[in-house]
Amino acid sequence: MNAETRGRLDHLPQWQALAEHRQELGDTHLRELFATDPGRAERYTLRVGDLHLDYSKHLITDETLRLLRELAEATGVARLRDAMFRGEKINNTEDRAVLHTALRAPRSAAVRVDGKDVVPDVHAVLTKMATFSDRVRSGQWTGHTGRPVRNVVNIGIGGSDLGPAMAYEVLRSYTARDLTFRFVSNVDGADLHEAVRDLDPAETLFIVASKTFTTIETITNASSAREWLLAGLGAGPEAVAKHFVALSTNAAKVAEFGIDTANMFEFWDWVGGRYSYDSAIGLSLMLAIGPDAFREMLAGFHEVDEHFRTAPAEQNAPLLLGLLGIWYNNFHDAQSHAVLPYSHYLSKFTAYLQQLDMESNGKSVDRQGEPVTWQTGPVVWGTPGTNGQHAYYQLLHQGTKVVPADLIGFARPVADLPERFAAHHDLLMANLFAQGQALAFGKTAEEVAAEGVSAELVPHRTFRGNHPTTTILAAELTPSVLGQLVALYEHKVFVQGAVWNIDSFDQWGVELGKVLAKRVEPALTEGTEVPGLDASTAALVARYRELRGR
Ligand code: F6P
Repeated sequence: MNAETRGRLDHLPQWQALAEHRQELGDTHLRELFATDPGRAERYTLRVGDLHLDYSKHLITDETLRLLRELAEATGVARLRDAMFRGEKINNTEDRAVLHTALRAPRSAAVRVDGKDVVPDVHAVLTKMATFSDRVRSGQWTGHTGRPVRNVVNIGIGGSDLGPAMAYEVLRSYTARDLTFRFVSNVDGADLHEAVRDLDPAETLFIVASKTFTTIETITNASSAREWLLAGLGAGPEAVAKHFVALSTNAAKVAEFGIDTANMFEFWDWVGGRYSYDSAIGLSLMLAIGPDAFREMLAGFHEVDEHFRTAPAEQNAPLLLGLLGIWYNNFHDAQSHAVLPYSHYLSKFTAYLQQLDMESNGKSVDRQGEPVTWQTGPVVWGTPGTNGQHAYYQLLHQGTKVVPADLIGFARPVADLPERFAAHHDLLMANLFAQGQALAFGKTAEEVAAEGVSAELVPHRTFRGNHPTTTILAAELTPSVLGQLVALYEHKVFVQGAVWNIDSFDQWGVELGKVLAKRVEPALTEGTEVPGLDASTAALVARYRELRGR
């Protein structure tokens, strides 16, 4: 059965079987599941690369897992996965291959798109990036006035910002601490201003990252950055070549902007923006951590790619995580999914995953263009767990919503954390383990009453528990572990899109706003009438102009 012939997802017998199974399980509590199944904690763990996954605190039994795997089989997840790895054009609305996995394939691999092996091109760009990084990091690359680069400013948005910005934070302890890195994405001029206000233009390198090189926010910021640079240097356009490089698929637009295409690092239309930070889009990261650590990260990605491609369904971690998400999203009415890292360095990880997941699976028509009658991608949210505990965990523990969550932590603090700060680590991780425990098992009314709590306060101090979590644990946060984590989530998102029969690789939903913004802008600046503008927006535009004194 393929996507075209399989019929409506919610009519499949495997779907119906899961719905019935959900009824049968009812409110079965994790307390009961653990009490009646002593092998559960051991059985429901997986190892992928350096990642240890505990999924025993999920509202599942062996039967649930069996039925979920049957759904994956009936919906052709493995077939679509194999087609992706082979370079077939599975992004059907854009007629493109989906080959971020080729970005981390070893030199010895061969991956063909339209008959051409793309692996040599991938490695040629990596080598060019490495040479450039070495020159900048060693001070050999100098700016217009002959001074070495001390500051690197990445200008990009969405996939051309979130990945490198997130990974830079994650791998801070691996970065060249003598260089300053800034990431500018917002078209609000304040973003660029705050990024450059204390920098010396003579020592600043701008990386303009844009797959299309037409994204209005990025081109606007890049143009203003060029003005800032030339004004600061008191130089003409000849200074641009030493201070601007581009990461793009669009050489013509890069040249039009005035960046020498010799200083362009290429990638390809088979790399989706949100899957691109291990391509040339990662140049700022490579400058920060160096080519060797970047390659270690790629090896981590590749390890999980290989696991996803080859591991049997029972032990396939991205498959499992994807299916667990479907269990809650489609059979427990969960609307969201929380990702709660117990690591300060992962503070931008969830924001990165928001684009990865929500831009991929926020779809309401299937691959054939028919409206779906089942829920698709969840709202993904979260911040570092300990901070969340003092903010929104109240809702997780005692609210009315089903919020499956991932708790991510590391056994050791990063190597360069001074001992006096590293001593916090056990307390940090104790919080992770305590939260997983409290969410799963709660505290019964009897337990609360036994502590002598007055009868009227007992309901307020009772914790229902039964909130599902996955715990992801690794020894240490290394470049390789970061690659493994990101690939794990990439493939989880893939699995869900495959089951839901949606194209996870287009993003038409972002287009309308872009078109309307272009149409509205002259109304703000010139007062031009916008044909067909609705009454509410027209009144807001008029009020805006008044407040702007126009
Ligand atoms: O607006 C969404 C989007 O197209 C993302 O998918 C992409 O990552 C981002 O814009 C940036 O696009 P570009 O790299 O072409 O500037």
